[in-house]
Amino acid sequence: MSQRSCLSVILAAGEGTRMKSALPKVLHQIAGLPMVAHVVRAAEAAGASSQALVIGYGADEMRKAAAKFAPKAETFVQEKRLGTAHAVLAAREAISRGYDDVLVMFGDTPLIDADALMAARFRLAEGAAVVVIGFRPPNPTGYGRLIEKGGKLTAIREEKDCSAEERKIGFCNAGMMAVAGAHALKLLDAVGNKNAKGEYYLTDIVEIARAQGLDVVATEASFESALGINNRIDLAQAEAVWQQRRRHAAMLSGVTLIAPETVYFSYDTEIGADTIVESNVWFGPGVKIANGAKIHAFSHIEGATIGSNCDVGPFARLRPGADLRTKAKVGNFCEVKQAVIEEGAKVNHLTYIGDARVGARANIGAGTITCNYDGYSKFFTDIGEGAFIGSNSSLVAPITIGNGGYIASGSVITESVPDEALAFGRARQKTIPGKGKELRERLASAAAAKKKAAGADN
Ligand code: UD1
Ligand code: MG
Repeated sequence: MSQRSCLSVILAAGEGTRMKSALPKVLHQIAGLPMVAHVVRAAEAAGASSQALVIGYGADEMRKAAAKFAPKAETFVQEKRLGTAHAVLAAREAISRGYDDVLVMFGDTPLIDADALMAARFRLAEGAAVVVIGFRPPNPTGYGRLIEKGGKLTAIREEKDCSAEERKIGFCNAGMMAVAGAHALKLLDAVGNKNAKGEYYLTDIVEIARAQGLDVVATEASFESALGINNRIDLAQAEAVWQQRRRHAAMLSGVTLIAPETVYFSYDTEIGADTIVESNVWFGPGVKIANGAKIHAFSHIEGATIGSNCDVGPFARLRPGADLRTKAKVGNFCEVKQAVIEEGAKVNHLTYIGDARVGARANIGAGTITCNYDGYSKFFTDIGEGAFIGSNSSLVAPITIGNGGYIASGSVITESVPDEALAFGRARQKTIPGKGKELRERLASAAAAKKKAAGADN
């Protein structure tokens, strides 16, 4: 089948009023990626090398977004929303180039998987002209029913047009179809709008194809993969399904999730075998984790690379550009941004490392802050191999701490420190014997005098 050419036409012209949003519905995200981008990915994975995106509402915003998530896709504007068949025909120019298979997909059905699409394409390869993807929702109310005879699909009947007997059918139209490219335009052009809504229904091509003696069949996808999004409750349900699938995939690939239902992945999270993830961990986009890492509870990680056998958290925040090399450690209440933490380096407690390099095996004491920003520009801090930064130090960037450099705790370091040097950046301590007692007595008698004066006034 791989030699069959395939175009996917993704319908995404609707506004999605029930989302109650300024953002077009299909740009709402699941796992950090617009839902329509999930559809594009599924189509690609099913072998659709060309993509046509039919847009309408929020066309400019849609074009801008599509340039990012589907740079190769062509966009077609459906000026008036006259129905799903009309929407597919907005991409006439692409369809008429001639493809073996045309996949019609909905931008608001983001969980559709490549397997379901491949199964439909397979039936086209066997000779069907139209393959409808069906599913069995727990409650079929509201969906078009698939009417079959002898293994062939004869019609899609919308619920309001069903007989009592037909209404009992649990097999419903998921909305998506695979159509033989050779017949696609002829079938779509034959669709009329003589129905209650005055719309051009894509579903009508089933009966049109049958009348022409063409082969029409249905395949079955899981309920979850056919889940359509209309409102934010559906969106949350789709997110939950997506996360569940991803957690299972992670565990089957050798990742331990101690409390899987509390770990959130992004669409692009990469995580190696033998990594252990504790509870309540959130992975934003752009995270790559090698093998054998430990991610402790309540860590928030995005745009970060974590090397093998690293130790992160609990309560760590890794922001974009955090790059932890083998066996590095970033402990509790630490934030790392745009910084390389080299092999075996330790950033254990209450620290901010931003725009920096921490050399191999360096030890960063509790409360260390790289002061990287003066309100206008960002500056770099370079900490050498094996350096020791005493607790509660401020490193005012731009600055270099040499290899083996040693910073006394409580220092404010404003000048670079050479290799192996010891630097103090704090006032020298002065200790005066007996002065504490004397001070205490003076303060106590002053307080007593004040109290007495206040009593006399009353
Ligand atoms: C459709 C099916 C129905 C099926 C259901 C499953 C048709 C006629 N009906 O109904 O049998 O059970 O999906 O969810 O196909 N769109 C456009 N332009 C248009 C109209 C629609 O781009 O002019 C887009 C929408 O933005 C949406 C998709 O096509 O992404 C589906 O349209 P929608 O109105 O949701 O169809 P349903 O009524 O749900
Ligand atoms: Mg719908």
